[in-house]
Amino acid sequence: MANELTPLKSNDEADDYYLEEEEEEWSQTAIYAMWGGGVAVCLGMLYLFIFFLPSVYIPVARPLDGVVKVAELDVGLSVLSPKRVKELGLDKFQFIDNDKKDEDEDDYEVDEANKDGNDYEADEQEDGEHAVSTANGVERYILVGDVHGEYQNLQRLLKKISYNKKTDYLLLLGDFITKGPDSLKVLDWAIENDVDCILGNHEYYVLQNYAQFHNLYAPFFQDLNSTSMETHFSTRDKFNNDPEYLLAKKLQLHQVEYINKCSVIKRLGQVPFHNPEANNGTKRSVQGAAVHAGLRWDLLADLNEQEPMDNLEMRKLLPPFYNETTDDPHAEGAIGWTKIYKNKQKALSLKDKLVVYYGHDARRGLRLSKYTRGLDSRCNAGGHLSAMIIWKEAGAKGKKVVYKEQAFQVECK
Ligand SMILES: *[C@@H]1O[C@H](CO)[C@@H](O)[C@H](O)[C@H]1NC(C)=O
Ligand SMILES: *[C@@H]1O[C@H](CO)[C@@H](O)[C@H](O)[C@H]1NC(C)=O
Ligand SMILES: *[C@@H]1O[C@H](CO)[C@@H](O)[C@H](O)[C@H]1NC(C)=O
Repeated sequence: MANELTPLKSNDEADDYYLEEEEEEWSQTAIYAMWGGGVAVCLGMLYLFIFFLPSVYIPVARPLDGVVKVAELDVGLSVLSPKRVKELGLDKFQFIDNDKKDEDEDDYEVDEANKDGNDYEADEQEDGEHAVSTANGVERYILVGDVHGEYQNLQRLLKKISYNKKTDYLLLLGDFITKGPDSLKVLDWAIENDVDCILGNHEYYVLQNYAQFHNLYAPFFQDLNSTSMETHFSTRDKFNNDPEYLLAKKLQLHQVEYINKCSVIKRLGQVPFHNPEANNGTKRSVQGAAVHAGLRWDLLADLNEQEPMDNLEMRKLLPPFYNETTDDPHAEGAIGWTKIYKNKQKALSLKDKLVVYYGHDARRGLRLSKYTRGLDSRCNAGGHLSAMIIWKEAGAKGKKVVYKEQAFQVECK
């Protein structure tokens, strides 16, 4: 072995010697050139990483539009035949228990329905309404509580209920992004599938962060004579690690436009008026509305009078008048907004009643009652993801059309 290596070794030495000699001739220039080049490369890299690449990855931005406060649903429910109801798997009514049966227990009053005087009148009115809504009809309204970026669980839920984008109207009740793993996926999927949305407090915070990152006007609400246009974020806050800020930084134009178009409140037209616990179909329907957190009972005559930030964040109402909201579940003397809402609604005639579908309250979880249906069942914290399906069904043997609804859930993994 040593013998074989010897000639090679001597060759190497010869080469080294030859190279060294040549290097010495231009070594001064080489050293300057190397230093110069090195500094240039370093500066180049600094520029690349600090200025050029970040700006390549900062999506194009544009100012936010005013958020719509109250939108109107422009489709109605067509009447499903019993056969179609069976095909859709809606024929077996199952009541899904509310998550907690603790405080506010008097949300559950089974037979208050029959005390309302104007049932029959309302039934007559409904017939005209059926005919109208069938023309521009979908088979089902599907309202889904807080998804929070749980894309996989959302897809499992939609599969379970055989969601069909051509025949169903799907509405996300706000907080469909942030917290969970796949906010952007949920967003892109909703955009691709023309899914409708309600603005949640987390969407609002993300819009705020977006405006801050891009030096834009803060989000504002369309028909308020507010001063919010004066709130301009002037410093780009580059080193904020808040997850909502990091998400906002990534938003592409089409994504932020989608969020910006979600309304605070959506009027749903006629929905079933009943206790969801005993749903064998009801001929009685009332106006319905969707909102993320809740509605103030005292501002129902014109929903534009509602304060959007209340609608996005409220949980309870404060004494003495219970017309002031709080999102603090432990606030002194505060009462759940749904409880006060129910008591105020009871006094109204059928045509003035308004049933509210909402999310937001993961703490209380699924909460279906006569005037309010809470659909945030904590998917993001190992709970369930819930959808409420609303449809209209032809009555057996020439009987009247009935309204029905049914909650469906998947356990979140
Ligand atoms: C906004 O201001 C205009 C003019 O001052 C007024 O006519 C309008 O009613 C206001 N709108 C609301 C929602 O307060
Ligand atoms: C619904 O109707 C069916 C048959 O008509 C009956 O057996 C069932 O008890 C009813 N359910 C409720 C909750 O009233
Ligand atoms: C609540 O009601 C009281 C008494 O009617 C009224 O004075 C007060 O302005 C109301 N507050 C709000 C926030 O509407």
